[in-house]
Amino acid sequence: MYTGLIDKYRDRLPVAADTRAVSLNEGATPLIELKNLPALVRKKVSIHAKFEGANPTGSFKDRGMTMAVTQAVEEGARAIICASTGNTSASAAAYAARAGIACFVLIPEGRIALGKLSQAMMHGSVVIQIRGNFDEGMRLTQELAAALPVKIVNSINPYRIQGQKTVAFEVIEALGDAPDYHALPVGNAGNITAHWIGYSEAAGESTQALRASAGMRKYRTPKTLERRPIMLGYQASGAAPIVRGRPVENPETVATAIRIGNPVSWQQAVAAGRESGGWFAECTDDEILHVQKMLAQAEGVFCEPASAIALAGVLKDLELGKIGEGSSIVCTLTGHGLKDPDTAIAQSAKPMTADAELKAIERVIRERLK
Ligand code: F0G
Repeated sequence: MYTGLIDKYRDRLPVAADTRAVSLNEGATPLIELKNLPALVRKKVSIHAKFEGANPTGSFKDRGMTMAVTQAVEEGARAIICASTGNTSASAAAYAARAGIACFVLIPEGRIALGKLSQAMMHGSVVIQIRGNFDEGMRLTQELAAALPVKIVNSINPYRIQGQKTVAFEVIEALGDAPDYHALPVGNAGNITAHWIGYSEAAGESTQALRASAGMRKYRTPKTLERRPIMLGYQASGAAPIVRGRPVENPETVATAIRIGNPVSWQQAVAAGRESGGWFAECTDDEILHVQKMLAQAEGVFCEPASAIALAGVLKDLELGKIGEGSSIVCTLTGHGLKDPDTAIAQSAKPMTADAELKAIERVIRERLK
């Protein structure tokens, strides 16, 4: 039976052999080949979606949270804290509940998707809505964690990054190799850092990003890879500090998960881009929503807006010729579409209403079958 990524990859993670994992059986998410989309955009490419929305709380954060909370419990922590645009708080709340410890979350008031808010509330965390944005919440959280007996579980916690690197191991196992390109959204920039560490370890290569793991328990990742992918990081036009090369004071985007103006792992993300020969680029909100819907309707895969930017960016760079035909590409779809029902409903056709009688409904269906 699969019991989560710490049990599966224990020898490749900074965990002792006898440490009991705080786990919800996260990881082992599907790698789905997009079979209809390439033809739809008239490109000969292989695109796979790593659907992280299939994690227990519906986002990739669970990979990092199982490690961060396992370590926090081992260190004797009684409480954890995070700033969040939504998914981190949902995951932290769930893993804290699992571990039987307290959880405090700071979120920007009115700016997190409904599904995520419901998760943090339902799992019993203390939800503190701040009149400010994520970046302000992040700064406050670091100050609070320094002053109080609460362990920070944002991705500046290196155990988060360690857990999240396992996504690369799963892609390698599924494809038998690295893809040519690996694309993902960039917000606080921890996940692209983690992906790059995973691929680098599997290739037996060093990376600047690994320095954050200094002082952690030793582990050994076996070499299973001959080459690393080119990393592509995409940001929303209204929240694109890395693309612009400077912090964005008032970030704005429909993809609230990545509404971040001053990412904590900025330098490591830039290093991942540079070391892999990749790049950072931006997509507009319209492009994000268009591709979110296209993916839902052409492939049956429902991801949240922030996740769709990985594919939106890839399709744009294919069109621009920056990615060549014949390439193999993996897009990490970081979170489930159900996280943000408001945005999905706002851009979809309204359901129709009919009397509860056969004839009326039959007429509607006949009309649609024409
Ligand atoms: N996609 C989703 C769905 C996210 O929730 C996030 C980050 C990202 C992408 C970006 O990943 O920060 O590692 O670059 N969400 C954080 C949160 C900030 O608080 O839930 P990143």
